[in-house]
Amino acid sequence: MLLPKLFQAPGLVLSLIAIPYALASTSSSSSSSSSSSSSKYNLIATYNSTNFFSEFTFFSEPDPTNGFVEYVDASTANREGLAGYSQGGVYLGVDYHNVTTTGRKSVRVTSKSTFTTGLFVADIAHMPSGATHAESCGLWPAYWMFGPDWPRGGEIDILEGVNSQSSNSITLHTASGCSMSNSGSPAGTKLVSPNCQGTSGCGQETDSTDNYGVGFNSGGGGYYVMEWTETDISVWFFPRARSSAVRQLISSSSSSSSGGSEGSSDFGSGSGSGSTGDEFDTSTLGQPLATFVGGSGCSISKHFSEHNIVFDTTFCGDWAGQVWKDDKKCTALARTCEDWVGQNPDKFVGAYWLINEIRVYQKGGRKTRKREVEFRA
Ligand SMILES: *[C@@H]1O[C@H](CO)[C@@H](O)[C@H](O)[C@H]1NC(C)=O
Ligand SMILES: *[C@@H]1O[C@H](CO)[C@@H](O)[C@H](O)[C@H]1NC(C)=O
Repeated sequence: MLLPKLFQAPGLVLSLIAIPYALASTSSSSSSSSSSSSSKYNLIATYNSTNFFSEFTFFSEPDPTNGFVEYVDASTANREGLAGYSQGGVYLGVDYHNVTTTGRKSVRVTSKSTFTTGLFVADIAHMPSGATHAESCGLWPAYWMFGPDWPRGGEIDILEGVNSQSSNSITLHTASGCSMSNSGSPAGTKLVSPNCQGTSGCGQETDSTDNYGVGFNSGGGGYYVMEWTETDISVWFFPRARSSAVRQLISSSSSSSSGGSEGSSDFGSGSGSGSTGDEFDTSTLGQPLATFVGGSGCSISKHFSEHNIVFDTTFCGDWAGQVWKDDKKCTALARTCEDWVGQNPDKFVGAYWLINEIRVYQKGGRKTRKREVEFRA
């Protein structure tokens, strides 16, 4: 395995979060923004082991998706080793020691800052999975973003799946009146439904096994890049072994005027037009893993706004639990999803996120603000 220490002795390598946390500020809305059709972006925020737990908050309410989970708060996560730093990255895990009949302990974190359009580059070393596809049954991990008054502000699910699924499902959710095409997606990526409304949303199923779960982890993860413009929303995946081009774009675009979302000064001094040599140019990324095109069917600026970034790991519930009975790999393990998840803690040792870094870029100006969120409808 690529992360032997973490698997053998997580307690020894996981350093705990320093708490208490700074309280969230509710401030710093800004906007200097020129909208530009260029594909060049400037860095506006970086989240990594130096600042992650002061820039994300713990959600500890009942799971809005009815999962068999107990989302814990920061101090519980800290005390019980469910969140912290490991191997230079941010560790977000679950309880893998105890049997439970009420829900497995886990964490869900939400960014304090919100974003409207932009480029989101996530370097993820590990995502929640079991040792095999079958032993991933019960899991429902997600890296996603959503706006206020769900589904009115929209939702973008960048990396998500359930049970023994072997490839990523990329899905958007909106209020009524948004229908997307996926022209520009590769042939192996299938649009399940064009209508993005509500809980089903418009999803694209991808077909590569390196972009999710067991396959993702065996390659040491990689880079998920999501670009959200006023005309389309696209997602690329670069497995670590094939990530040199994206790593080069990242390192050549590492200067930022604010170095994090707590900075109060607006980025806006540079206009989007000049080439300063420190921009991230998406035109060199190649074909995305999935593209959603608004076209005449969906006004992206009307349906998507002010998104917080979220990472979570839940179990069973409205998706993994609902489709359990249709998954033969899962029903071979236990009659119900809750039985499997509750009675087999040791199968969830690998159910953790290890996030090296998330970088947020925007064109020419900063369009970020703070929004504290408690619920996902
Ligand atoms: C985290 O991001 C900051 C700000 O860009 C950077 O200075 C620092 O080197 C990064 N740290 C790690 C461990 O990557
Ligand atoms: C597991 O159970 C033990 C014994 O009851 C308890 O001390 C510990 O905190 C539990 N761990 C988690 C993560 O809930």
